[in-house]
Parts: sequence; C-alpha cells; structure tokens
Amino acid sequence: MIYRKPTFKDVEAMFELVNNYAEQGLMLGRSRNVLYESLRDFIVAEENGEIVGMGALYLMWNELAEIRAMAIAPQVTKSGIGRNIVQALIEEAKNLGVTTVFALTYQPDFFKKQGFTELPKEELPHKVWKECINCTKFPNCDEIALSIKI
Ligand SMILES: CC(C)(COP(=O)(O)OP(=O)(O)OC[C@H]1O[C@@H](n2cnc3c(N)ncnc32)[C@H](O)[C@@H]1OP(=O)(O)O)[C@@H](O)C(=O)NCCC(=O)NCCS
Repeated sequence: MIYRKPTFKDVEAMFELVNNYAEQGLMLGRSRNVLYESLRDFIVAEENGEIVGMGALYLMWNELAEIRAMAIAPQVTKSGIGRNIVQALIEEAKNLGVTTVFALTYQPDFFKKQGFTELPKEELPHKVWKECINCTKFPNCDEIALSIKI
C-alpha cells in the first residue's frame, strides 16, 4: 500500500469513491470542481495502481483543522487504511502547527478508536458552518462532531 499526495490524474477515481458512498447516504458528495480545488488537502492510498482510500485535512482557523472526505474502497475497509490516512493527516497537521483536529461524521466510532472524543457542535467556531449553507441537509445537520488535541 502506498500513501501519497494525489495528482490530477487521481481525481476521477477519487470522484467515484466518494460519490458511490454519497449515493448511499454515508457521506456528503464532492463535485469534480471541489476535488480539483482541494487536491492538495488530500492523502490517497494506492494499491496495484488503484486508488483505494482517501481523506483530506482542511485548514479551518488558527491552529484548527478538519479531517473530511474519508473514504476507503468497500473491498478493503477494516484493514487499517482509514486509520493510516487519519494518522498521516494528523502528522501534516502537527507540522503546520495545528493543535486541534475535528471531524463531522456519521461514523463516530471510527474516530473514537483513534482518540477523538465527541463535542457539542455549538463549540466549533462559526466559520465551520459557512460551507454548510450549501448542504441539502442544512440546517438539520445530523453529523456528529468529534475532536482531538494533537
Ligand atoms: C469509515 C471508514 C473511513 C473507515 O475506514 P477503514 O479503513 O475501514 O477503517 P480502519 O480499518 O482503519 O479501522 C480503524 C479502527 O476503526 C474501526 N472501525 C472502522 N470503521 C468503523 C465503523 N464504521 N464503526 C466502528 N468502528 C469502525 C475498525 O474496526 C478499527 O478498529 P481496531 O482499532 O479495533 O482494529 C470506511 O469504512 C469508509 O470509507 N466508510 C464509508 C464512507 C464513510 O462513512 N466515511 C466517513 C466519512 S467521515
């Protein structure tokens, strides 16, 4: 398994991965435009030339970052790839001076296994909700907020 930064050549595979799960209601979808613009935020996992995992670190505010768009291909879930991507993103965050990483997710137990704890969404800064106004679920967000000090 190779963990690396993606290039534009990876975008179609990333698009498929994330939007297949989004169609099942498991995570929010991502347009190609968003993937192109945020490509530097991502780490991907590659096996035999195929993208089998992805996740992004989005810089939110002073010392605060979000892990988002985590998606591991269904045939390789529960084999540690998600954990490895989260750990790699946390390393990136540390190198940037981030002190708190949070996630908004339907899979809180995956993050709890890695030391994240739940927090009331209201404790996150208002800026976090800026992008939410474009979400079809707004204002009835049913994602769970978790964070970790790093
Ligand atoms: C959730 C997801 C990212 C987890 O990735 P993964 O590669 O399967 O996770 P890992 O194998 O690294 O699991 C790490 C630990 O979390 C546990 N875990 C993984 N997914 C879990 C889940 N959904 N619920 C509870 N525990 C979970 C694993 O059993 C493992 O536990 P261990 O430390 O006791 O061995 C992946 O299943 C996925 O892409 N799901 C569909 C999309 C999605 O829901 N994305 C989340 C959006 S934030």
